[in-house]
Amino acid sequence: MTLHTTTSLPQWQRLAALGAALINRPLIDIVGERDRYQHFSFVCEGILVDFSKQRLTDEALRALCALAEQLQLPAELARLMDGAIANTTERRAALHTALRAPAVRRPAAVREEIELELARMEGFVDALRDGRTRGFTGRAIRHVVHIGIGGSHLGPEFALDALLAYQESTPRVLFLANIDGHAIAETLRGLDPETTLFIVASKSFATKESLVNATSARSWFLERTGRADAVADHFVAITSNSAAAGAFGIAPRSIFSMWDWVGGRYSLWSAVGLPIAIAIGMSCFKEMLAGAHAMDQHARAAPPERNLPVLLALVGIWNLNILGAQSHAVLTYDRRLRMMPSYLQQLEMESNGKSVRTDGSTVDLQTMPVLWGGEETNAQHAFHQQLHQGNRAFSVDFIACARPAHAHAEHHQWLLANCLAQSEALLIGRAGEGDAVLAAHRTLAGNRPSTTIVLDELTPRRLGALLALYEHKVFCQGTIWQINPFDQWGVELGKVLADAIHPALGDNPAHAHDASTQGLISHLKRQTDLGTP
Ligand code: F6P
Repeated sequence: MTLHTTTSLPQWQRLAALGAALINRPLIDIVGERDRYQHFSFVCEGILVDFSKQRLTDEALRALCALAEQLQLPAELARLMDGAIANTTERRAALHTALRAPAVRRPAAVREEIELELARMEGFVDALRDGRTRGFTGRAIRHVVHIGIGGSHLGPEFALDALLAYQESTPRVLFLANIDGHAIAETLRGLDPETTLFIVASKSFATKESLVNATSARSWFLERTGRADAVADHFVAITSNSAAAGAFGIAPRSIFSMWDWVGGRYSLWSAVGLPIAIAIGMSCFKEMLAGAHAMDQHARAAPPERNLPVLLALVGIWNLNILGAQSHAVLTYDRRLRMMPSYLQQLEMESNGKSVRTDGSTVDLQTMPVLWGGEETNAQHAFHQQLHQGNRAFSVDFIACARPAHAHAEHHQWLLANCLAQSEALLIGRAGEGDAVLAAHRTLAGNRPSTTIVLDELTPRRLGALLALYEHKVFCQGTIWQINPFDQWGVELGKVLADAIHPALGDNPAHAHDASTQGLISHLKRQTDLGTP
Protein backbone atom coordinates (compact mmCIF):
# COMPACT_ATOMS: atom_id res chain seq x y z
CA MET A 1 0.00 0.00 0.00
CA THR A 2 1.43 3.39 -0.96
CA LEU A 3 1.49 5.95 1.83
CA HIS A 4 0.44 9.54 1.38
CA THR A 5 3.67 11.46 1.62
CA THR A 6 4.17 13.78 4.57
CA THR A 7 4.89 16.58 2.11
CA SER A 8 1.46 16.18 0.52
CA LEU A 9 -0.33 16.92 3.80
CA PRO A 10 -1.96 20.35 4.12
CA GLN A 11 -0.20 20.70 7.50
CA TRP A 12 3.15 20.39 5.72
CA GLN A 13 2.22 22.98 3.14
CA ARG A 14 1.16 25.32 5.91
CA LEU A 15 4.57 24.84 7.53
CA ALA A 16 6.35 25.56 4.27
CA ALA A 17 4.40 28.81 3.91
CA LEU A 18 5.13 29.85 7.50
CA GLY A 19 8.81 29.01 7.06
CA ALA A 20 9.02 31.09 3.88
CA ALA A 21 7.55 34.04 5.76
CA LEU A 22 9.82 33.61 8.77
CA ILE A 23 13.14 32.83 7.15
CA ASN A 24 13.89 36.46 6.40
CA ARG A 25 12.55 37.84 9.65
CA PRO A 26 15.36 38.87 12.04
CA LEU A 27 15.60 36.24 14.73
CA ILE A 28 16.22 38.89 17.34
CA ASP A 29 12.73 40.31 16.67
CA ILE A 30 11.16 36.89 17.04
CA VAL A 31 13.02 36.27 20.29
CA GLY A 32 11.86 39.68 21.50
CA GLU A 33 8.21 38.67 21.43
CA ARG A 34 6.25 38.83 24.66
CA ASP A 35 6.73 35.99 27.18
CA ARG A 36 9.05 34.37 24.71
CA TYR A 37 11.05 32.30 27.18
CA GLN A 38 7.95 31.19 29.09
CA HIS A 39 6.19 30.09 25.89
CA PHE A 40 9.10 28.21 24.43
CA SER A 41 10.75 26.49 27.41
CA PHE A 42 9.61 23.09 28.65
CA VAL A 43 10.65 20.96 31.60
CA CYS A 44 10.33 17.24 32.23
CA GLU A 45 12.26 15.12 34.73
CA GLY A 46 14.57 17.99 35.67
CA ILE A 47 15.49 18.58 32.01
CA LEU A 48 14.76 22.01 30.62
CA VAL A 49 14.51 22.31 26.87
CA ASP A 50 14.53 25.90 25.73
CA PHE A 51 13.44 26.58 22.15
CA SER A 52 13.11 30.34 22.69
CA LYS A 53 16.10 31.08 20.44
CA GLN A 54 14.57 29.11 17.56
CA ARG A 55 13.14 30.80 14.47
CA LEU A 56 9.70 29.83 15.62
CA THR A 57 6.55 31.76 16.42
CA ASP A 58 3.52 30.55 18.39
CA GLU A 59 1.81 30.11 15.07
CA ALA A 60 4.63 28.00 13.63
CA LEU A 61 4.81 25.88 16.77
CA ARG A 62 1.06 25.29 16.58
CA ALA A 63 1.44 24.28 12.94
CA LEU A 64 4.20 21.83 13.82
CA CYS A 65 2.00 20.35 16.54
CA ALA A 66 -0.84 20.07 14.03
CA LEU A 67 1.48 17.98 11.87
CA ALA A 68 2.29 15.81 14.89
CA GLU A 69 -1.44 15.35 15.55
CA GLN A 70 -2.09 14.53 11.92
CA LEU A 71 0.66 11.90 11.98
CA GLN A 72 -0.59 10.72 15.40
CA LEU A 73 2.86 10.86 16.96
CA PRO A 74 1.75 10.21 20.57
CA ALA A 75 -0.40 7.29 19.41
CA GLU A 76 2.53 5.96 17.38
CA LEU A 77 4.73 6.23 20.48
CA ALA A 78 2.12 4.26 22.41
CA ARG A 79 1.99 1.58 19.69
CA LEU A 80 5.77 1.34 19.79
CA MET A 81 5.74 0.87 23.56
CA ASP A 82 2.90 -1.67 23.35
CA GLY A 83 4.98 -3.88 21.07
CA ALA A 84 3.69 -3.13 17.56
CA ILE A 85 5.93 -4.29 14.69
CA ALA A 86 7.82 -1.00 14.49
CA ASN A 87 10.78 -2.53 12.65
CA THR A 88 8.86 -3.35 9.49
CA THR A 89 11.70 -4.67 7.31
CA GLU A 90 12.76 -7.18 9.96
CA ARG A 91 9.22 -7.82 11.18
CA ARG A 92 10.06 -7.07 14.80
CA ALA A 93 8.87 -4.98 17.67
CA ALA A 94 11.28 -2.42 19.13
CA LEU A 95 10.61 -2.84 22.81
CA HIS A 96 13.53 -1.07 24.47
CA THR A 97 11.00 0.85 26.56
CA ALA A 98 9.83 -2.43 28.13
CA LEU A 99 13.32 -2.95 29.55
CA ARG A 100 13.01 0.12 31.73
CA ALA A 101 9.35 -0.13 32.68
CA PRO A 102 8.25 -1.45 36.06
CA ALA A 103 7.15 -5.09 35.74
CA VAL A 104 3.41 -4.31 35.80
CA ARG A 105 3.74 -1.88 32.91
CA ARG A 106 5.69 -4.21 30.62
CA PRO A 107 3.86 -5.85 27.72
CA ALA A 108 2.91 -9.33 28.96
CA ALA A 109 4.73 -11.08 26.10
CA VAL A 110 8.14 -9.96 27.36
CA ARG A 111 7.48 -9.34 31.05
CA GLU A 112 8.83 -12.58 32.47
CA GLU A 113 11.99 -12.86 30.42
CA ILE A 114 12.98 -9.29 31.25
CA GLU A 115 12.40 -9.94 34.94
CA LEU A 116 14.47 -13.09 34.83
CA GLU A 117 17.38 -11.47 33.03
CA LEU A 118 17.35 -8.42 35.29
CA ALA A 119 17.54 -10.71 38.33
CA ARG A 120 20.46 -12.65 36.77
CA MET A 121 22.17 -9.39 35.99
CA GLU A 122 21.73 -8.20 39.56
CA GLY A 123 23.15 -11.43 40.99
CA PHE A 124 26.15 -11.24 38.67
CA VAL A 125 26.87 -7.57 39.34
CA ASP A 126 26.54 -7.87 43.12
CA ALA A 127 28.81 -10.92 43.28
CA LEU A 128 31.43 -9.20 41.14
CA ARG A 129 31.32 -5.96 43.09
CA ASP A 130 31.47 -7.53 46.53
CA GLY A 131 34.32 -9.86 45.53
CA ARG A 132 32.42 -13.17 45.65
CA THR A 133 33.16 -13.74 41.97
CA ARG A 134 36.81 -14.59 41.63
CA GLY A 135 39.17 -15.59 38.86
CA PHE A 136 40.34 -19.17 38.41
CA THR A 137 43.19 -18.75 40.92
CA GLY A 138 40.86 -17.35 43.56
CA ARG A 139 41.94 -13.74 43.19
CA ALA A 140 39.31 -10.99 42.99
CA ILE A 141 38.48 -9.55 39.56
CA ARG A 142 40.11 -6.13 39.19
CA HIS A 143 39.45 -5.34 35.52
CA VAL A 144 36.46 -5.92 33.29
CA VAL A 145 37.11 -5.54 29.56
CA HIS A 146 33.88 -4.93 27.68
CA ILE A 147 34.25 -6.03 24.05
CA GLY A 148 31.54 -4.77 21.70
CA ILE A 149 30.98 -2.18 19.00
CA GLY A 150 28.25 0.21 17.85
CA GLY A 151 25.18 -0.22 19.99
CA SER A 152 26.99 -2.83 22.04
CA HIS A 153 29.55 -0.20 23.04
CA LEU A 154 28.64 3.46 22.63
CA GLY A 155 25.76 3.66 25.09
CA PRO A 156 27.60 1.89 27.93
CA GLU A 157 30.84 3.85 27.50
CA PHE A 158 29.00 7.16 27.24
CA ALA A 159 26.95 6.38 30.36
CA LEU A 160 30.00 5.32 32.30
CA ASP A 161 31.91 8.42 31.30
CA ALA A 162 28.95 10.57 32.28
CA LEU A 163 28.50 8.90 35.65
CA LEU A 164 32.12 8.80 36.76
CA ALA A 165 31.10 10.40 40.05
CA TYR A 166 28.98 7.33 40.86
CA GLN A 167 31.69 4.81 40.18
CA GLU A 168 33.62 2.86 42.70
CA SER A 169 37.16 1.82 42.07
CA THR A 170 36.85 -1.95 41.75
CA PRO A 171 36.56 -3.60 39.33
CA ARG A 172 37.61 -1.07 36.71
CA VAL A 173 35.76 -1.27 33.40
CA LEU A 174 37.64 -0.83 30.10
CA PHE A 175 36.13 -0.78 26.60
CA LEU A 176 37.46 -2.48 23.50
CA ALA A 177 35.52 -1.73 20.33
CA ASN A 178 37.69 -1.10 17.29
CA ILE A 179 39.34 -3.85 15.30
CA ASP A 180 42.57 -1.80 15.27
CA GLY A 181 45.32 -3.85 16.92
CA HIS A 182 46.57 -0.71 18.66
CA ALA A 183 43.30 -0.69 20.61
CA ILE A 184 43.64 -4.19 22.00
CA ALA A 185 47.37 -3.76 22.62
CA GLU A 186 46.66 -0.63 24.64
CA THR A 187 43.71 -2.15 26.50
CA LEU A 188 45.51 -5.31 27.58
CA ARG A 189 48.75 -3.58 28.53
CA GLY A 190 49.37 -4.13 32.22
CA LEU A 191 46.34 -6.37 32.79
CA ASP A 192 46.68 -9.60 34.71
CA PRO A 193 44.70 -12.50 33.21
CA GLU A 194 44.06 -13.94 36.67
CA THR A 195 42.14 -10.81 37.67
CA THR A 196 40.58 -9.84 34.34
CA LEU A 197 37.07 -10.65 33.14
CA PHE A 198 36.02 -10.21 29.51
CA ILE A 199 32.46 -9.40 28.50
CA VAL A 200 31.72 -10.01 24.82
CA ALA A 201 28.61 -8.03 23.90
CA SER A 202 27.36 -8.78 20.43
CA LYS A 203 23.72 -9.27 19.57
CA SER A 204 24.62 -11.31 16.49
CA PHE A 205 27.86 -12.76 17.84
CA ALA A 206 28.97 -12.40 14.24
CA THR A 207 30.37 -8.85 14.18
CA LYS A 208 33.94 -9.10 12.95
CA GLU A 209 35.39 -6.44 15.24
CA SER A 210 34.00 -8.07 18.36
CA LEU A 211 34.87 -11.62 17.32
CA VAL A 212 38.44 -10.73 16.33
CA ASN A 213 38.91 -8.84 19.60
CA ALA A 214 37.34 -11.63 21.65
CA THR A 215 39.47 -14.26 19.91
CA SER A 216 42.66 -12.27 20.53
CA ALA A 217 41.65 -11.71 24.15
CA ARG A 218 41.10 -15.44 24.58
CA SER A 219 44.52 -16.18 23.03
CA TRP A 220 46.12 -13.60 25.31
CA PHE A 221 44.44 -15.30 28.27
CA LEU A 222 45.46 -18.83 27.20
CA GLU A 223 49.05 -17.88 26.37
CA ARG A 224 49.51 -16.50 29.87
CA THR A 225 47.58 -19.06 31.87
CA GLY A 226 47.68 -22.23 29.79
CA ARG A 227 44.27 -23.01 31.26
CA ALA A 228 41.61 -23.65 28.63
CA ASP A 229 39.29 -24.82 31.42
CA ALA A 230 39.46 -21.36 33.01
CA VAL A 231 38.05 -19.52 29.97
CA ALA A 232 34.58 -20.24 31.36
CA ASP A 233 35.39 -18.24 34.51
CA HIS A 234 36.84 -15.28 32.65
CA PHE A 235 34.54 -14.77 29.65
CA VAL A 236 30.92 -13.65 29.70
CA ALA A 237 28.68 -13.04 26.67
CA ILE A 238 25.69 -10.83 26.03
CA THR A 239 24.05 -12.02 22.84
CA SER A 240 20.98 -13.35 21.10
CA ASN A 241 23.15 -16.03 19.49
CA SER A 242 23.91 -18.25 22.47
CA ALA A 243 24.98 -21.14 20.20
CA ALA A 244 27.85 -19.08 18.77
CA ALA A 245 28.81 -17.83 22.23
CA GLY A 246 28.82 -21.43 23.46
CA ALA A 247 30.97 -22.51 20.52
CA PHE A 248 33.41 -19.75 21.47
CA GLY A 249 33.78 -21.38 24.87
CA ILE A 250 31.48 -19.31 27.03
CA ALA A 251 29.56 -21.29 29.63
CA PRO A 252 25.72 -21.20 29.40
CA ARG A 253 25.57 -19.74 32.93
CA SER A 254 27.68 -16.80 31.68
CA ILE A 255 25.51 -15.94 28.69
CA PHE A 256 23.07 -13.04 29.07
CA SER A 257 20.24 -12.52 26.62
CA MET A 258 19.76 -9.89 23.99
CA TRP A 259 16.43 -10.20 22.30
CA ASP A 260 15.60 -9.61 18.66
CA TRP A 261 12.96 -7.11 19.79
CA VAL A 262 15.66 -4.77 21.11
CA GLY A 263 17.71 -2.93 18.50
CA GLY A 264 21.48 -2.73 19.07
CA ARG A 265 21.57 1.04 19.49
CA TYR A 266 18.67 0.84 21.95
CA SER A 267 20.19 -1.98 23.98
CA LEU A 268 22.01 -0.32 26.86
CA TRP A 269 18.88 -0.83 28.96
CA SER A 270 19.32 -4.61 28.66
CA ALA A 271 22.23 -6.76 29.84
CA VAL A 272 24.36 -4.67 27.46
CA GLY A 273 24.23 -2.25 30.39
CA LEU A 274 26.28 -4.72 32.47
CA PRO A 275 29.45 -2.58 32.39
CA ILE A 276 27.39 0.37 33.60
CA ALA A 277 25.88 -1.67 36.44
CA ILE A 278 29.27 -3.14 37.36
CA ALA A 279 30.75 0.34 37.63
CA ILE A 280 27.93 2.23 39.36
CA GLY A 281 26.03 -0.60 41.06
CA MET A 282 22.69 -2.15 40.29
CA SER A 283 20.64 0.36 42.26
CA CYS A 284 22.12 3.28 40.28
CA PHE A 285 21.54 1.34 37.04
CA LYS A 286 17.91 0.91 38.06
CA GLU A 287 17.75 4.66 38.66
CA MET A 288 18.79 5.13 35.04
CA LEU A 289 16.00 2.79 33.96
CA ALA A 290 13.54 4.72 36.12
CA GLY A 291 14.56 8.06 34.58
CA ALA A 292 14.16 6.65 31.08
CA HIS A 293 10.79 5.21 32.02
CA ALA A 294 9.62 8.58 33.35
CA MET A 295 10.49 10.08 29.96
CA ASP A 296 8.66 7.21 28.23
CA GLN A 297 5.55 7.95 30.26
CA HIS A 298 5.78 11.63 29.39
CA ALA A 299 6.32 10.85 25.68
CA ARG A 300 3.30 8.59 25.73
CA ALA A 301 0.92 10.85 27.61
CA ALA A 302 1.77 14.50 26.97
CA PRO A 303 0.02 16.33 24.13
CA PRO A 304 2.38 17.40 21.31
CA GLU A 305 2.50 21.04 22.46
CA ARG A 306 4.01 19.96 25.80
CA ASN A 307 5.71 16.74 24.73
CA LEU A 308 9.49 17.16 24.92
CA PRO A 309 10.60 14.40 22.52
CA VAL A 310 7.87 15.32 20.06
CA LEU A 311 8.88 18.99 20.22
CA LEU A 312 12.58 18.17 19.87
CA ALA A 313 11.75 16.11 16.78
CA LEU A 314 9.50 18.80 15.32
CA VAL A 315 12.05 21.56 15.82
CA GLY A 316 14.63 19.36 14.08
CA ILE A 317 12.24 18.85 11.16
CA TRP A 318 11.52 22.58 11.06
CA ASN A 319 15.21 23.47 10.91
CA LEU A 320 16.15 20.84 8.35
CA ASN A 321 13.19 20.52 6.06
CA ILE A 322 11.60 23.93 6.28
CA LEU A 323 14.52 26.29 7.00
CA GLY A 324 17.25 24.30 5.23
CA ALA A 325 19.79 23.59 8.01
CA GLN A 326 22.39 21.28 6.49
CA SER A 327 23.82 19.71 9.60
CA HIS A 328 23.05 19.39 13.27
CA ALA A 329 25.64 20.19 15.93
CA VAL A 330 25.49 18.82 19.46
CA LEU A 331 27.59 21.08 21.67
CA THR A 332 27.97 19.74 25.16
CA TYR A 333 28.99 22.04 27.99
CA ASP A 334 29.80 19.44 30.60
CA ARG A 335 32.83 17.21 30.43
CA ARG A 336 30.73 14.27 31.56
CA LEU A 337 28.68 14.50 28.35
CA ARG A 338 31.66 14.61 26.02
CA MET A 339 30.79 11.27 24.39
CA MET A 340 27.26 12.37 23.64
CA PRO A 341 27.92 13.43 20.02
CA SER A 342 29.42 9.99 19.20
CA TYR A 343 26.56 8.24 20.94
CA LEU A 344 23.99 10.37 19.10
CA GLN A 345 25.74 9.86 15.79
CA GLN A 346 24.93 6.18 16.00
CA LEU A 347 21.51 6.63 17.57
CA GLU A 348 20.33 9.23 15.07
CA MET A 349 22.32 8.63 11.89
CA GLU A 350 22.13 4.83 11.94
CA SER A 351 18.42 5.09 12.71
CA ASN A 352 17.31 7.81 10.34
CA GLY A 353 20.04 8.12 7.70
CA LYS A 354 17.76 6.52 5.12
CA SER A 355 16.13 7.42 1.83
CA VAL A 356 13.41 4.82 1.39
CA ARG A 357 10.01 5.03 3.02
CA THR A 358 8.42 2.09 4.81
CA ASP A 359 6.38 1.27 1.68
CA GLY A 360 9.57 0.99 -0.42
CA SER A 361 9.18 4.30 -2.25
CA THR A 362 11.87 6.97 -2.26
CA VAL A 363 11.50 9.76 0.29
CA ASP A 364 10.83 13.14 -1.27
CA LEU A 365 12.42 15.24 1.47
CA GLN A 366 15.73 15.29 3.26
CA THR A 367 16.06 12.91 6.19
CA MET A 368 18.66 12.88 8.95
CA PRO A 369 21.09 15.80 8.77
CA VAL A 370 24.77 15.10 9.40
CA LEU A 371 25.13 15.12 13.17
CA TRP A 372 28.41 16.27 14.62
CA GLY A 373 29.63 18.05 17.69
CA GLY A 374 32.30 18.76 20.20
CA GLU A 375 32.93 19.61 23.76
CA GLU A 376 32.75 22.83 25.64
CA THR A 377 35.22 25.63 25.23
CA ASN A 378 37.62 23.30 23.39
CA ALA A 379 35.18 23.38 20.51
CA GLN A 380 34.94 27.16 20.72
CA HIS A 381 38.67 27.38 20.13
CA ALA A 382 38.44 24.91 17.26
CA PHE A 383 35.42 25.11 14.99
CA HIS A 384 33.00 27.69 16.38
CA GLN A 385 34.54 30.21 13.98
CA GLN A 386 32.61 28.47 11.24
CA LEU A 387 29.39 28.59 13.25
CA HIS A 388 29.69 32.35 13.64
CA GLN A 389 30.98 33.33 10.21
CA GLY A 390 30.65 30.32 7.90
CA ASN A 391 28.01 30.29 5.19
CA ARG A 392 26.20 27.04 5.83
CA ALA A 393 22.97 26.79 7.73
CA PHE A 394 23.04 24.41 10.69
CA SER A 395 20.95 23.62 13.72
CA VAL A 396 22.41 23.21 17.18
CA ASP A 397 21.62 21.79 20.60
CA PHE A 398 23.63 23.25 23.47
CA ILE A 399 23.58 20.90 26.47
CA ALA A 400 24.68 21.87 29.98
CA CYS A 401 24.12 20.83 33.59
CA ALA A 402 23.19 23.42 36.22
CA ARG A 403 24.94 21.68 39.10
CA PRO A 404 28.38 20.13 38.66
CA ALA A 405 29.90 17.17 40.50
CA HIS A 406 32.97 19.14 41.59
CA ALA A 407 33.71 21.95 44.00
CA HIS A 408 35.31 24.39 41.52
CA ALA A 409 32.43 26.85 41.46
CA GLU A 410 34.37 29.48 39.57
CA HIS A 411 35.13 27.07 36.72
CA HIS A 412 31.52 26.06 36.49
CA GLN A 413 30.32 29.63 36.37
CA TRP A 414 32.74 30.33 33.51
CA LEU A 415 31.66 27.19 31.71
CA LEU A 416 27.98 28.13 31.87
CA ALA A 417 28.81 31.71 30.91
CA ASN A 418 30.54 30.40 27.80
CA CYS A 419 27.65 28.12 26.92
CA LEU A 420 25.12 30.96 27.12
CA ALA A 421 27.52 33.37 25.40
CA GLN A 422 27.76 31.10 22.38
CA SER A 423 24.01 30.86 21.84
CA GLU A 424 23.65 34.59 22.48
CA ALA A 425 26.44 35.39 19.99
CA LEU A 426 24.77 33.17 17.40
CA LEU A 427 21.56 35.08 17.99
CA ILE A 428 22.67 38.71 18.21
CA GLY A 429 25.87 38.75 16.14
CA ARG A 430 27.97 41.91 16.06
CA ALA A 431 28.59 44.75 13.66
CA GLY A 432 32.26 44.90 12.63
CA GLU A 433 34.43 47.92 13.43
CA GLY A 434 37.18 49.63 11.47
CA ASP A 435 37.31 50.60 7.82
CA ALA A 436 34.84 49.01 5.44
CA VAL A 437 37.04 46.02 4.60
CA LEU A 438 37.99 45.24 8.18
CA ALA A 439 34.43 45.83 9.35
CA ALA A 440 33.23 43.25 6.84
CA HIS A 441 35.74 40.73 8.17
CA ARG A 442 34.82 41.45 11.75
CA THR A 443 31.06 41.27 11.33
CA LEU A 444 29.17 38.37 12.84
CA ALA A 445 25.81 38.14 11.18
CA GLY A 446 24.14 36.42 14.14
CA ASN A 447 20.55 35.55 13.34
CA ARG A 448 21.30 31.86 13.90
CA PRO A 449 18.87 29.80 15.97
CA SER A 450 19.72 27.26 18.67
CA THR A 451 18.14 25.06 21.34
CA THR A 452 19.52 24.96 24.87
CA ILE A 453 19.02 21.93 27.09
CA VAL A 454 19.82 22.20 30.79
CA LEU A 455 19.83 19.30 33.22
CA ASP A 456 19.41 20.31 36.84
CA GLU A 457 22.12 17.78 37.70
CA LEU A 458 23.65 14.75 36.09
CA THR A 459 22.41 11.76 38.06
CA PRO A 460 21.77 8.24 36.74
CA ARG A 461 18.06 9.08 36.65
CA ARG A 462 18.59 12.25 34.62
CA LEU A 463 20.92 10.51 32.20
CA GLY A 464 18.30 7.83 31.64
CA ALA A 465 15.70 10.50 30.90
CA LEU A 466 18.05 12.40 28.57
CA LEU A 467 18.82 9.30 26.50
CA ALA A 468 15.15 8.36 26.30
CA LEU A 469 14.36 11.92 25.20
CA TYR A 470 16.67 11.54 22.20
CA GLU A 471 15.54 7.97 21.48
CA HIS A 472 11.96 9.17 21.17
CA LYS A 473 13.01 12.20 19.14
CA VAL A 474 14.53 9.74 16.66
CA PHE A 475 11.37 7.65 16.53
CA CYS A 476 9.18 10.72 15.99
CA GLN A 477 11.39 12.01 13.19
CA GLY A 478 11.42 8.58 11.56
CA THR A 479 7.62 8.60 11.72
CA ILE A 480 7.44 12.05 10.12
CA TRP A 481 9.90 11.04 7.38
CA GLN A 482 7.98 7.75 7.04
CA ILE A 483 11.11 5.64 7.37
CA ASN A 484 11.98 2.67 9.58
CA PRO A 485 14.44 3.84 12.26
CA PHE A 486 15.12 0.31 13.50
CA ASP A 487 17.03 -1.35 10.65
CA GLN A 488 20.51 -0.58 9.25
CA TRP A 489 20.89 -2.27 5.88
CA GLY A 490 23.36 0.38 4.79
CA VAL A 491 26.17 -1.04 6.90
CA GLU A 492 26.02 -4.54 5.40
CA LEU A 493 27.90 -4.05 2.12
CA GLY A 494 31.06 -2.71 3.74
CA LYS A 495 31.18 -5.80 5.97
CA VAL A 496 30.83 -8.15 2.98
CA LEU A 497 33.50 -6.32 1.00
CA ALA A 498 35.90 -6.29 3.96
CA ASP A 499 35.52 -10.08 4.06
CA ALA A 500 36.63 -10.19 0.43
CA ILE A 501 39.48 -7.67 0.75
CA HIS A 502 40.94 -9.23 3.90
CA PRO A 503 42.38 -12.30 2.10
CA ALA A 504 43.66 -10.12 -0.75
CA LEU A 505 45.77 -8.18 1.75
CA GLY A 506 47.24 -11.50 2.79
CA ASP A 507 48.25 -14.19 0.33
CA ASN A 508 44.97 -14.95 -1.33
CA PRO A 509 43.83 -12.41 -3.95
CA ALA A 510 40.80 -14.53 -4.77
CA HIS A 511 38.36 -11.72 -5.54
CA ALA A 512 38.37 -9.15 -8.31
CA HIS A 513 38.10 -5.53 -7.23
CA ASP A 514 37.66 -2.23 -9.04
CA ALA A 515 40.87 -0.71 -10.38
CA SER A 516 41.20 1.86 -7.62
CA THR A 517 40.70 -0.63 -4.80
CA GLN A 518 43.06 -3.07 -6.53
CA GLY A 519 45.72 -0.35 -6.78
CA LEU A 520 45.40 0.43 -3.08
CA ILE A 521 45.54 -3.26 -2.16
CA SER A 522 48.78 -3.65 -4.16
CA HIS A 523 50.27 -0.53 -2.57
CA LEU A 524 49.43 -1.68 0.95
CA LYS A 525 50.76 -5.17 0.27
CA ARG A 526 54.07 -3.77 -1.01
CA GLN A 527 54.33 -1.55 2.06
CA THR A 528 53.43 -4.25 4.58
CA ASP A 529 55.78 -6.72 2.88
CA LEU A 530 58.56 -4.25 3.72
CA GLY A 531 58.02 -5.30 7.30
CA THR A 532 55.32 -5.16 9.91
CA PRO A 533 56.66 -4.87 13.46
O1 F6P B 1 26.98 -1.39 12.56
C1 F6P B 1 25.87 -2.20 12.48
C2 F6P B 1 25.51 -2.87 13.76
O2 F6P B 1 24.65 -3.91 13.45
C3 F6P B 1 24.88 -1.94 14.80
O3 F6P B 1 23.58 -1.66 14.57
C4 F6P B 1 25.14 -2.73 16.03
O4 F6P B 1 24.92 -1.98 17.18
C5 F6P B 1 26.57 -3.12 15.81
O5 F6P B 1 26.65 -3.41 14.43
C6 F6P B 1 27.04 -4.28 16.61
O6 F6P B 1 26.31 -5.43 16.34
P1 F6P B 1 26.36 -6.69 17.28
O7 F6P B 1 25.82 -6.30 18.61
O8 F6P B 1 25.53 -7.73 16.60
O9 F6P B 1 27.80 -7.11 17.38
